Amino acid sequence: MSIFDESIDTFLAPVKEYLADESVSEVLINGPKEIFIEKGGLLRRVQAQFQDEQALQAAVRNIAQFVGRKIDQDHPTLDARLPDGSRIAAVLPPCSRKGTTLSIRKFSKNVPSFADLLQRGTVSKEGARFLDVCVFLGKNLIISGGTGSGKTTLLNVLGSRVPGNQRLIVIEDSSELKIKTDHIVNFETKHPDAEGKGEVTIRDLVKSALRLRPDRIVVGEVRGPEALDLITAMNTGHGGSMGTVHANSPYDGLIRLETLAMMSEMQVPEQAMRRQISAAIQVVVQIKRLADGSRKITHISEVVPEVDAQGRYQLQHIFEWIQKGKSEDGKFIGELVPTGHLPSFFGEFEVNKIPLGRENFQPPAWYASLASKSRAA
Ligand SMILES: Nc1ncnc2c1ncn2[C@@H]1O[C@H](COP(=O)(O)OP(=O)(O)O)[C@@H](O)[C@H]1O
Ligand SMILES: [Mg+2]
Repeated sequence: MSIFDESIDTFLAPVKEYLADESVSEVLINGPKEIFIEKGGLLRRVQAQFQDEQALQAAVRNIAQFVGRKIDQDHPTLDARLPDGSRIAAVLPPCSRKGTTLSIRKFSKNVPSFADLLQRGTVSKEGARFLDVCVFLGKNLIISGGTGSGKTTLLNVLGSRVPGNQRLIVIEDSSELKIKTDHIVNFETKHPDAEGKGEVTIRDLVKSALRLRPDRIVVGEVRGPEALDLITAMNTGHGGSMGTVHANSPYDGLIRLETLAMMSEMQVPEQAMRRQISAAIQVVVQIKRLADGSRKITHISEVVPEVDAQGRYQLQHIFEWIQKGKSEDGKFIGELVPTGHLPSFFGEFEVNKIPLGRENFQPPAWYASLASKSRAA
């Protein structure tokens, strides 16, 4: 089945085979003569080309029309979701220098599970069990990572573990998450109309969500002042809320949230903001796309609820990915292992009859020697 209708397929003929191929996750068009696809997590250039810039622009205009939007010289960018859930983004020249840029991120029908992440080597069994417990116990959690590192995918997996008797409100810029749970409400932002009116932002939706009796709130991507609303929600009894941020380490993830929260009109002093954030977020999960195309959870870290004497966030890594080597075909070999630090909420395990004991947080014998090397690398 095609993700577009037949008339658009005609315009997209040069990339049709990739759109139809389920193993291709993204199609990236950098002007008419340069096309890349992503397959198995790796990008590669393909021979296909559009006849010329006009042919490519015609395709993009038709896609825009298909989703009820406009792209032209006055509105040279487009970011939209197709009815099947695929995402498209486009920028026209002269903003885009090589000719029209178009990316199509295909919606994958399969809702991933922990088993898939295990099989892909993204998480270890122990790491998955711990994350599952964090979700079950209603810890507030953020997923931090770069673009395409697998944040949204991981959020799908974690969100789908929210107990079915809890009401989940999911807020996104353009619907992408496919969380499977019994009681879920999905919100999507709205673009302003041609006169610039009628815009509904993530902030608006977080505020509305709070009046709709959520148990938990999920913000697909935190990238603006809604960070403050999410932090406030987390601090006011909506435990188990989650979101993703764009950052390269757990610490940077917190700094990123802080920077975004500071963008709101509320003037909160930095130290007060840091205290709020340390109190709000209990767990940061860092995910990374490695050079071999694989995605790895590199840290599962607990946020100490107080800043240190210098006012800095304090993180305690509970799990850490340690690189052990590299295979002959260039794949990274490593493991996500416990660091030996018990989570501060370990006491809740017994009360909730969670079958994880202290021994589950013991690092392997080789941990200390490899950890220092791995970090230095
Ligand atoms: N754990 C994983 N292992 C392999 N590929 C993955 C994994 N998670 C996501 N991907 C692939 O990476 C791409 C980006 O994933 P996504 O979750 O949307 O990342 P992000 O939200 O960080 O931008 C998708 O094409 C997806 O199929
Ligand atoms: Mg994402």
